[in-house]
Amino acid sequence: MAMDIWQQLQSAESSTIDRIVERLEMRGRDDTFVALTDRYLDLVDIDSLGTVLELGCGTGVISRSIAARPGYTGSVVGSDYSAQLVEAAQQFARAEGVGDLVRFEVEDAQATRQPSNAYDAVILHTLVSHLPEPALAVGEAARVAKPGGVVVVFDGDYASLTIRTGHPDDETVLQAIRNVSSANHHVMRSMPEIMKQQSLSIKDIDASVLVAAGESPFFGSLARTYVPLAVKSGELDEDLGHDWMDTFEAAAVGGTAFASCNYLSYIAQPD
Ligand SMILES: C[S@@+](CC[C@H](N)C(=O)[O-])C[C@H]1O[C@@H](n2cnc3c(N)ncnc32)[C@H](O)[C@@H]1O
Repeated sequence: MAMDIWQQLQSAESSTIDRIVERLEMRGRDDTFVALTDRYLDLVDIDSLGTVLELGCGTGVISRSIAARPGYTGSVVGSDYSAQLVEAAQQFARAEGVGDLVRFEVEDAQATRQPSNAYDAVILHTLVSHLPEPALAVGEAARVAKPGGVVVVFDGDYASLTIRTGHPDDETVLQAIRNVSSANHHVMRSMPEIMKQQSLSIKDIDASVLVAAGESPFFGSLARTYVPLAVKSGELDEDLGHDWMDTFEAAAVGGTAFASCNYLSYIAQPD
C-alpha cells in the first residue's frame, strides 16, 4: 500500500498538519470543488434531512457547509480520527457561527461508536481513498444509516489524476503525488462491489471531471501540498521535486499546464 499522508496524521509534525489544514480549507473555498459537493447535496435533498453524519470530516468543511445552509434545520455530527483536525473543525465552526449546529468527535471511521439506524444521511467525502480498509467504513455507514436513509461516498478516482507540465519527469512526480496523497487510487472503481457486500443499493452515481489549463487554485494547491510532502517522506528526490515545481509554476503562469481528475459520488440506501 502507498504511503498516504492522511493515514499518518496522528504522528505528523505541526508543519505538516498546518499544510493539510490549509489544503482542506482551500478546497472549501474553491468554487469548482464546492460545486461537486453541492451536486450530491442537492441530489439527496439535504435540506429535507434531519440528522447527518460525516465520517472522516477533517477540518469540517462539508459538515460546516451543511450546518450553514439557510434551508437546513437538522443536526450534523462530524467525526475524524485526527484529534488535531477535530479541534480545528470546532474552532472554525465557532468562528463561523455554526458551533451550536454541528458537533465534532474523534473516532475511527472503520469502527465508529455511532448508534445503529440513527442518521438520515451518512457522508464519506474524500475518505475512502485514504483508508486501509475502505469496506469497513462503508459498512459502518450502512449500519448507522436509518432504513430509508442515504449513504453518500464521494471521492476522486485518483488513478485518473493527470498533471502535464512538459517536464520530462512528469510521470515520476505524478506517481509520487499519488502515493503520498491516496492509498487507494482505484477505490471508486470498486465501490459497486464494496456497496453490494455491505448491503447497500446504489440509487445514483454522479460523475465530474475537474480540469484546468494554466493557473488553477485547486491543482496549484495540490502540487504545492503534495510535492514537498513527497520529498519529505523520501518518495521523491529533493532536486527533482524542486526542479519539477519550478516547471509547474512556469507552466501555470504561462498558461500551458494541464491537470485533470475524475470525481464520483455514489448515492446508496441500506437494503
Ligand atoms: C482528504 S481528508 C477529507 C476531510 C474532509 N472530509 C473534507 O473533505 O474536507 C481525509 C480525512 O480522513 C481522515 N481519516 C483518515 N483515516 C481515518 C480513519 N481511519 N478514521 C477516520 N478518519 C480518518 C483524515 O484525518 C482526514 O481528515
